[in-house]
Amino acid sequence: DQRTIKDAASPKEVDYQAVYNAIADSLEDEKYDDGSYGPVLVRLAWHASGTYDKNTGNGGSNGATMRFAPEANHGANAGLEKARAHLEPIKKKFPEITYSDLWTLAGVCAVQELGGPYIPWRAGRKDGNVENCTPDGRLPDADKGADHIRNIFYRMGFNDEEIVALSGAHALGRCHTDRSGFDGPWQYAPTTFSNEYFRLLFDEKWQERKWKGPPQFENKTDKSLMMLRTDMALVTDKAFKPTAQKYAKDENAFFSDFSKAFSKLIHLGVPTAQLSEPVPLKKIEDQAP
Ligand code: HEM
Repeated sequence: DQRTIKDAASPKEVDYQAVYNAIADSLEDEKYDDGSYGPVLVRLAWHASGTYDKNTGNGGSNGATMRFAPEANHGANAGLEKARAHLEPIKKKFPEITYSDLWTLAGVCAVQELGGPYIPWRAGRKDGNVENCTPDGRLPDADKGADHIRNIFYRMGFNDEEIVALSGAHALGRCHTDRSGFDGPWQYAPTTFSNEYFRLLFDEKWQERKWKGPPQFENKTDKSLMMLRTDMALVTDKAFKPTAQKYAKDENAFFSDFSKAFSKLIHLGVPTAQLSEPVPLKKIEDQAP
């Protein structure tokens, strides 16, 4: 029942640690955004995977169908062409890796290299064709509430705790007015993966920003940080709140739960028989000199 990818090449030997190291080496760029491609690569891995529908088994990271219009042009994917283009030289250097493995591996690399936890990753995704593109509307809308978040993430097979853990990825990166219409970072160090997003949700006072753009929140202290409506739902929703509080107090708990939930996300929709054993992908700092 899972997404069937026809005519895909059989997996070849790939040195995934070498691919990882090449991506790690490419992350820093002082001319791009906050100085790192890491955040937008995490968003690419997430949007490639978050189209999964557990009822039909289609969507998910298998296929890398965001390479094609119409999926590339879905509103939610605005700006991700930068992430895809950034990985193109890596794909040229390691042509044997599929795009779907490359995009998810890049997400893992970015989380790990920006200070996050180890993420278990398996190889074996196959690239699909334009017919495998998912319909628009499978990814969450930022100006909706807890019901919408649940509808979207339950469809992927996640529970409330996993939803909260995954949302902690907003420690990284920022919103761009020319991509989503929203504006600003969630925390002061948007290229460092930490539990800061949860701490700020509780420790800052948040007010609606008065501006011409879509509804978003700003912190009272210096108005330089932002939260989306969907972020605020983690505090206002009774079932989400205790988990968000736990992560604000306990970074180890967040790291451990995020690692499991993110790993689950990037394997959604990939037939188990297709997948390799977990591939150890070491952080640069943990590799022998
Ligand atoms: C960025 C919405 C969940 C990772 C964004 C942006 C929006 C958004 C509007 C700004 C895009 C831009 O203008 O560049 C949402 C909503 C979510 C959600 C509504 C769920 C309710 C997630 C999840 C992850 C994630 C589950 C990963 C596990 C990211 C990252 C960025 C981002 C890393 C920063 C990208 C960059 O700096 O270029 N998200 N997101 N988000 N999102 Fe989410």
